Amino acid sequence: MNIAIIGYGKMGKAIEEVAVEKGSTVKKIITEEENYNSLALTKQNLKNIDVCIDFTTPSVVFDNIEAVANAGKNIVVGTTGWFDKLEDVKKIVKKNNIGLLYSPNFSLGINIFYRIINTASSIFNNFDEYDMMVSEIHHKQKADSPSGTALVLGQIITQNVKRKKEMLQETAHSKMKSDQLHITSTRVGSCVGKHTVLFDSDFDCIELTHTAKNRRGFALGALLAAEWLNGKKGVFTMKDVMTSI
Ligand SMILES: NC(=O)c1ccc[n+]([C@@H]2O[C@H](COP(=O)([O-])OP(=O)(O)OC[C@H]3O[C@@H](n4cnc5c(N)ncnc54)[C@H](OP(=O)(O)O)[C@@H]3O)[C@@H](O)[C@H]2O)c1
Repeated sequence: MNIAIIGYGKMGKAIEEVAVEKGSTVKKIITEEENYNSLALTKQNLKNIDVCIDFTTPSVVFDNIEAVANAGKNIVVGTTGWFDKLEDVKKIVKKNNIGLLYSPNFSLGINIFYRIINTASSIFNNFDEYDMMVSEIHHKQKADSPSGTALVLGQIITQNVKRKKEMLQETAHSKMKSDQLHITSTRVGSCVGKHTVLFDSDFDCIELTHTAKNRRGFALGALLAAEWLNGKKGVFTMKDVMTSI
């Protein structure tokens, strides 16, 4: 499979390293310098590419998706912080008849963690004694907060726990309402990513945490996703990849 990496930052570099080990060919690396207004993502420039993989920034990813779609190529989107534009992206994918796969978190461990939290929150739905929260820690360079992963965890909980109706993503400047689920973010140093879900009662607390050790897990997941997406049309997530394994 021939891939193009869009964005040569921490994740772009990790994907380049893992791709070589996994037998994918990195045909192009598209850096910020050459890609002002997504101008490098032309049909001509991407002609030998099977799948593009974007790990850039929230401010440019939408234009990149549009340009790759106009070039008729499939794209795996690792960049987070754009999910409010998902409906527009779906229209672009349909119009250009391409395949797009996105995930706030490509790591295998996190995708297993989602299943654990799904089960745990269904259990806690039956026990009103427990309150709950989601917290995440990432490195200081991360552009968006809360992380897309924390929001997915929040959605899983609000879907399963009837007494939690809305997420509070900001600092609580007044008393929390009982139907609010607090999602908190901390930025420090070079932390790759830590997500915790806490179930708290007056008498005990249960804390479930996923800690990423390095970026290789994300890179591997993104490459798995690219292989899975090759030749497909439509909008998919990592859930589709996981359920087919
Ligand atoms: N889904 C997941 O599993 C997962 C995992 C890790 C990270 N992420 C997300 O992926 C994104 C990138 O993370 P990262 O840690 O690799 O960040 P990073 O190290 O800051 O890398 C982003 C790179 O994108 C480049 N860039 C900016 N605009 C561009 C453009 N128009 N065309 C091409 N490249 C462009 C930046 O170049 P300059 O440095 O020159 O600006 C930088 O090299 C973030 O949104 C992060 O939250 C997702």
